[in-house]
This record gives sequence, structure tokens and C-alpha cells, in this order.
Amino acid sequence: MIFPDDDLSPHRPVMLDEVMDFIKPGKGDIIVDATIGAGGHSCEILKRIQPDGLLIGIDKDAEILKIAGKFLSKISDNYKLYQADFVNLGCILEKLKISKVNGILLDLGVSSLQLDSLDRGFSFSKEGPLDMRMDRTQGITAEDLLKRLSEREMADVFWKYGEERKSRRVARVIMQERKRGVSIKTTTQLAKIAEKALYVPGKYSKKRKIHPATRVFQALRIVVNDELKSLEQFLNDACGFMTGGSRIVVLSFHSLEDRLVKRAFREGKNRSLLEILTKKPLIPLDSEIIENVRSRSAKLRAAERI
Ligand SMILES: C[S@@+](CC[C@H](N)C(=O)[O-])C[C@H]1O[C@@H](n2cnc3c(N)ncnc32)[C@H](O)[C@@H]1O
Repeated sequence: MIFPDDDLSPHRPVMLDEVMDFIKPGKGDIIVDATIGAGGHSCEILKRIQPDGLLIGIDKDAEILKIAGKFLSKISDNYKLYQADFVNLGCILEKLKISKVNGILLDLGVSSLQLDSLDRGFSFSKEGPLDMRMDRTQGITAEDLLKRLSEREMADVFWKYGEERKSRRVARVIMQERKRGVSIKTTTQLAKIAEKALYVPGKYSKKRKIHPATRVFQALRIVVNDELKSLEQFLNDACGFMTGGSRIVVLSFHSLEDRLVKRAFREGKNRSLLEILTKKPLIPLDSEIIENVRSRSAKLRAAERI
């Protein structure tokens, strides 16, 4: 992974002002950034909880944690970083002998640094190995997954986790390639296959606003990293770690994530554990989308522990 220059901001944090307005980190607070990435949001949190607060940063990706540490250490040493899936927050807090925290942030998906790293295989626009694992020490790569799935299983994955309407067609073309003895090893190879499968002359360019490979890549990434299971479990447990009046803020980037967040917050409300602060999800201002196109699909939901 390429380390950004010392003086450059690590990652342009999505909806930074809105996130801070909801989490309201204050002096002495203990805040969990469960998807710390390169520390974009966390740098701001760390500044606000000085001089005696604690930032707990979690990420599955060991490489990106190093980057976060580099930036955070310039602000203060009131932070602890853990390479883990965020579902392990309970164990982390136990180790730290902390029972409740004052705020939790989840900024889901992958960071721009991961997307821009050719060797990680997250981006269909850059040539790289079809890996897609956030934690490169565990699990199977997208390349292996594609080799193992039957045509029907592939179609199910693209449909269920990518909401790709033409999932069967993509699966069929992949299977045809496999039968011809082609091994699909790179991002651009798969992107071309998706293009070939989904291309409809004339109509295609007008109807599809996104690249044909977008949903296929999303689906594979979700399965490779078991993303929805982790999110569902985390949201289920989160209230147990939050002190009264503390807030949880979630930035999601596709409807499958947003649906889980909406449902978990509603359940929290029904059980009188949470007050929902965003009736409808907040979206970025047009000015932010112009500056940072990757923010365009962001949805922010926030809730307060009763
Ligand atoms: C969008 S980035 C976060 C960017 C960060 N907020 C910033 O401003 O720099 C999401 C990060 O969450 C991590 N991640 C995603 N799912 C995770 C999980 N289940 N457990 C731990 N980390 C996860 C990814 O590796 C990635 O670094």
C-alpha cells in the first residue's frame, strides 16, 4: 500500500462535519472508531477529546492501521489501535477494562487508499490481483471464490449481495470463460467479463449510470469479507457498550448496509434502548460530492443511547 505524504491528509473523511455534530466528541470522552481506516475521522475525534480522552481504533486491515497510527501520533498518544473485525469490540473493551463508551463511529466499506492500492484488488478500474480481502492474513480471495462457486451460486451471490438484475447472465459468461480454461485472476479481467455480459447496445449507456462491474465487485467484496454478518452482529451488540446519552453514527454506502442499520436502530427504539436522531438518512452536500465523488452514495444514520 502506498503511504500518503506526511503533510497530506490521510483520507478525505466523508461527511466529517455531520459526523462530529452527531458524535459530539468532548474532552475526556472514550470514543470507538470501529472502522478507523487511515484515520480521517479519528484525527478530528482525537483533537476534540484531549487532554485525557481515549480513542479506540479498530480495522481489519493491518496495513491501513499503520497509516492511521502515523497520523494520530502527530496529534497525541491518547489512542489504542487494534487489528480486528469490529465484532470483537466486546473483547477489546474487556482487555482495556472499559465497560461503556461515549460514542461509536462506523464508516463502512473500503477506504480510498485501499481502492487505490493496485495489489488489493478492490477496484475494477485498476489492474490488480483479484484479492479483495480487508484482512490479508485470513479467508479466501475473490479469485478463489470465483473458482469454487457453481454457476448458480455465483448468480445468487451477484443477485443477493450486488442486487445485480442480470446476475445469471454474468454468472453464465464467467462459467463459459472457466470452461474455456481461462482463469480469472485480475480485476480488469473480471471487469471486462462483466462488461461483456451486461452490455446492451444503445440502451446500456443510457440506462446504467454505473460501470457494469460495480455490483459484481460489491457482491464479491461483501462475501469475501463476510461484511453483512459482521455489521448485523455489531449493531446487535452496540447498545450494550454505550453509556446513556452516547451516540452511534453509521455511514453506509449501499442499500444492503443501510437496511441493516435502519432495522437495528428501529429495534433499539422498540426496546427503549435508542432514540433515533435521523428520521431519514442524511446525505452529503452537493459541494462535498463535487470535491469527493466517492462520498456520493453515503448515507448517515445516528442514534442516541437512552
Ligand atoms: C471507509 S473506510 C474508513 C475510513 C475512515 N473513516 C477515514 O476517515 O479514514 C472503512 C474501513 O473499515 C475497515 N473495515 C470494514 N469492515 C470492517 C470490519 N468488519 N471490521 C474492522 N474493520 C473493517 C476497512 O478495512 C476500511 O479500512
